[in-house]
Amino acid sequence: MNGMETGERKILLSGSRPTGRQHLGNYVGALAQWLELQDNLECFFMVADWHALTSTYRDTSTLPDNIRNQVIDWLSIGLDPAKATIFVQSAIKEHAELHLLLAMFTPLGMMERCTSWKDNVVEGGNDLLRTYGFLGYPCLQSADILMYHADIVPVGKDQVEHVEKTQDVAQKVNFLYGTEENPVFRVPEWKLGNAPVLLGNDGRKMSKSYGNCIYITEPAKDVEQKVSVMVTDPARVRRHDPGTPELCSVWSYHKVFTDPKHHDEVHVGCTTAGIGCRDCKKLLASEINRKFEPARARRAELEQNPDEWRSVLDAGNKAARARARQTMEQVRERLHLYTE
Ligand code: TRP
Ligand code: SF4
Repeated sequence: MNGMETGERKILLSGSRPTGRQHLGNYVGALAQWLELQDNLECFFMVADWHALTSTYRDTSTLPDNIRNQVIDWLSIGLDPAKATIFVQSAIKEHAELHLLLAMFTPLGMMERCTSWKDNVVEGGNDLLRTYGFLGYPCLQSADILMYHADIVPVGKDQVEHVEKTQDVAQKVNFLYGTEENPVFRVPEWKLGNAPVLLGNDGRKMSKSYGNCIYITEPAKDVEQKVSVMVTDPARVRRHDPGTPELCSVWSYHKVFTDPKHHDEVHVGCTTAGIGCRDCKKLLASEINRKFEPARARRAELEQNPDEWRSVLDAGNKAARARARQTMEQVRERLHLYTE
C-alpha cells in the first residue's frame, strides 16, 4: 500500500514553536486559519519544540511550561482533537531520522541562502546561532511536512521560503528514487492567510520578547488596560482633532475583532472627531473580551484538569507516530536502507 493514499481529504500540516500563551498576533496569523481549516481537511498541528531548541538551546527550562500553555490555548480557542491530530514534534523520533536523510539531499548553499540564517548569522553576526542545528532549521521543517504527506502548509510570509525548500528537496528525492506514478514524497503547497499583521500596543511588531502582547485568554481587565494604552494616530492629539483610522492600529484591530456593524460608526466617528479615542478603545476591548470569553472559560477548566491536555497530546502523538512509522518504512525501502 502506498501511504499517500489516505482518503480523499487533503492533508494539512502546520506547527509553531512553543512560545507559551498565545497572543492575538498568533490568533490572527495562524490559529484563526487553523480553526477554519480543521473542519474540511485532515489536519496535523504540531508543537515544534525541536525547532525552538535551534535558537534557545542554552536554557530549556521554560520549555515544559511553554508547551503546556500553548497547547492549552490551542484547545481553549477550539482546535479540536476529534478533528485534528495535535502532537509534539520531539515525541515522534522519526522526524529526526527524516531530517537526517533529507540533509543528505540538501546543498549547503540552499540553507545558507535562507533569510533567517543570513539575517541572524551572516549579517547579524549572532555567533550563538552559528550552529549546525540552526542552519538545518528549514531541513527539519521539511521533514515535518513530508512525514505526513501534507498537501497544504498554512504559513506566514516569512515561512514561505521554507515550504519552497521542502518542495525542492521532495522533488529531488522523487527524481532520484521515485517514479511518476509512485513518488516518494508528496510535493506540498504553502497557503498564506489573508490576515493583517497586528502591531503590539506600543506600535512595534507584536512579540513576547517586547512585552507588548495582548494574550487570547488574558483577564478582561488586563485587555482593557492594554488596549487603553495602545498607540493611536499621532495626528489626533486633542479630542476635537479628526483622525485617520488607517494610520491607527486600534482600527486594524477593530477590523479583525469588532462586529462589522460597528465599523462605520468607528470609522466615521474617527474621521469627524465624533468619537474620542477613549471610547473607540473601550469598544475594542469589549469586543475582544466578548470574542474570547468562551476561550477564557475553557482555559480555566483545562487548567483545573491537567490530565485532559496531556491525554490529548498522548493520543495525538500516538496517531502521528503511526503515520510517521509508515512513512519511514517506505522511505527506507525506497532508499535501499537496511531494514530488519
Ligand atoms: N518554523 C515554523 C515557525 O516558526 C514552525 C514550524 C516547524 C512549522 N515545522 C513546521 C510550520 C512545519 C509549518 C510546517 O512558525
Ligand atoms: Fe484610532 Fe479610534 Fe482614535 Fe481613530 S478614534 S485615532 S481609530 S483610537
